[in-house]
Amino acid sequence: MSARAQVVVHADKGELVDAVAERFVRLVPRLLAQQDVLHIAVTGGSVGIGVLERIKELSTAHDLLWDRLHVWWGDERFVASESPDRNEKQAREALLDHVPIPEHNVHAFPASDSVPDQARAADLYARELASYAESRAWPAFDLTFLGVGPDGHVASLFPGFPQLAEHTLGVAAVQDSPKPPPLRLTLTLPVLNDSRRVWFVLAGADKADALRKALDQVSVEQAPVAGVTGTEETLFMADSEAASLLD
Ligand code: 6PG
Repeated sequence: MSARAQVVVHADKGELVDAVAERFVRLVPRLLAQQDVLHIAVTGGSVGIGVLERIKELSTAHDLLWDRLHVWWGDERFVASESPDRNEKQAREALLDHVPIPEHNVHAFPASDSVPDQARAADLYARELASYAESRAWPAFDLTFLGVGPDGHVASLFPGFPQLAEHTLGVAAVQDSPKPPPLRLTLTLPVLNDSRRVWFVLAGADKADALRKALDQVSVEQAPVAGVTGTEETLFMADSEAASLLD
């Protein structure tokens, strides 16, 4: 099942970041009135991290019940734990270090200095996912944030790369990412597509072609963003530059 894509356009990157964060702080209590916990996948990238910073600012006025939120990552750079490149480190500095989320609710990919190699890291993250999924291999995320690259990549799924063909495993390693750093770990399409809600966040004129391709539903090989939908909601939130090629 996949929800038809909807697009919301905001004037500029600042307004976009504010609107996404506000939508998030409104959604969380609404969902937690109906279920015990939420599984949320966050993203790196300037818009994704900007949204987390804004959520931190808004969280002082909203009780987000952090002990009932589980945070995962759509992808991670396979670098040392203290590397500034690490999505986890950026997300902690932007939000997670400032809110009362229990440490065991934060599910970061293993860092390169904590495991022998990428294969072991991917396997450990897959096991962590499975441990929250009862009889399935991964939980259906309640919300997945995804930034989008100018080439249409999402998470660390890049156009033409073999990880796009992974239909069984939930986690894949990337050795030659076109966007540095080259070594990465990523959730695969089956995991992303099990998400109930997928919120794409895009800002800047260099994203216009990727957004157009996503909505034109080009092949996933051409633009991985075109191959991801939520089961209940697929929402593209863009600034006016990223939306400039839409009708
Ligand atoms: C990464 C990022 C990457 C990012 C997009 C969008 O690991 O390199 O997660 O996938 O989300 O490139 O980035 P911006 O939000 O900065 O445009």
